[in-house]
Amino acid sequence: MKEEILKIKENSLASIKSCKNLKELNELKVKYLGKKGELTIVLRGMGKLNPEERPIMGSLVNQVRDELNDLVKEKEKELKKEELQKRLETENIDVTEPSKKINLGSYHPITQIIDEVTEIFLGMGYEIADGPEVEKAIYNFDQLNTPPDHPARDVQDTFYITEDIVLRSQTSPVQARVMEKQKPPIKIICPGAVYRSDSVDATHSPVFHQIEGLVVDKNISMTDLKGTLEMFAKKCLGENTKIRFRPHHFPFTEPSAEADVSCFVCGGKGCRVCKQEGWIELLGCGMVHPNVLKNCGIDPEEYTGFAFGFGVERIAMAKFGIEDMRLLFENDVRFLKQF
Ligand code: DAH
Repeated sequence: MKEEILKIKENSLASIKSCKNLKELNELKVKYLGKKGELTIVLRGMGKLNPEERPIMGSLVNQVRDELNDLVKEKEKELKKEELQKRLETENIDVTEPSKKINLGSYHPITQIIDEVTEIFLGMGYEIADGPEVEKAIYNFDQLNTPPDHPARDVQDTFYITEDIVLRSQTSPVQARVMEKQKPPIKIICPGAVYRSDSVDATHSPVFHQIEGLVVDKNISMTDLKGTLEMFAKKCLGENTKIRFRPHHFPFTEPSAEADVSCFVCGGKGCRVCKQEGWIELLGCGMVHPNVLKNCGIDPEEYTGFAFGFGVERIAMAKFGIEDMRLLFENDVRFLKQF
């Protein structure tokens, strides 16, 4: 057995020393030191020896194994160094070669409008408020002076999760949430997605976006509302934009109005965008109803406020000349790339 071990030692040392690369070294490692390697096989045969010889052979095998391990480590270092050197000599990088083109996306038209409008109102000292899209019916309706028998609460218009929880049908519930928590002065805008049980066509979608505005303070009047909206319209749609109010009804404002802007394409003469009207319907607005202030813990004798809300898709469509709302949701990159 001793000769056998020494033979293995001689052969293995010689082949490891002369081995040329890491792959070969690995194979040799397995061949001599692995689980089924030659040394292990010899060890298994120890059972046949007489008891005095066993420890002597055992320690000889261990000695050879240690020696082999040391040599393998040393050789490994040497070969790694050699291979690195070879790579450094043969590989060269052309730093002047043009890099791969990165396909950059662009902001979605809806995001662009939200950013632009937000920026204008931030400039006027507003803060951005946020609220949940899955909303309590109390906030979406009751707090906003919209009683249980109001037609807007019908299941045909609103998506109900339970009797008391809806997908918000407007961004107005954020008003109530903010007023409940914050004392006036309040000056917020709130952009976000809203949901209505509408079928999809060129001007309707069951999900769309609104931006809500709310100001509550002492001595806030309708003139503040009109001045604010006029300022906003000029900044967003062009310096020559005019604004007009038409009487309307919303449960949460009194008086209420719908605001139109003079057509920013034809300047009011009449064109395709304004459907020959000269005016484009922009938003709903009004003075916050005293009941809404009361519901939210604000004294209507001390404070007044105005609010407004508009659809982002409508503005995006008018501004970018998009005729079908579906294009904004289909997200065909060829379409979106144009904006
Ligand atoms: N929430 C209304 C809607 O979805 C829009 C609106 C009208 C918001 C008047 C307001 C407002 O804040 O004062 O049609």
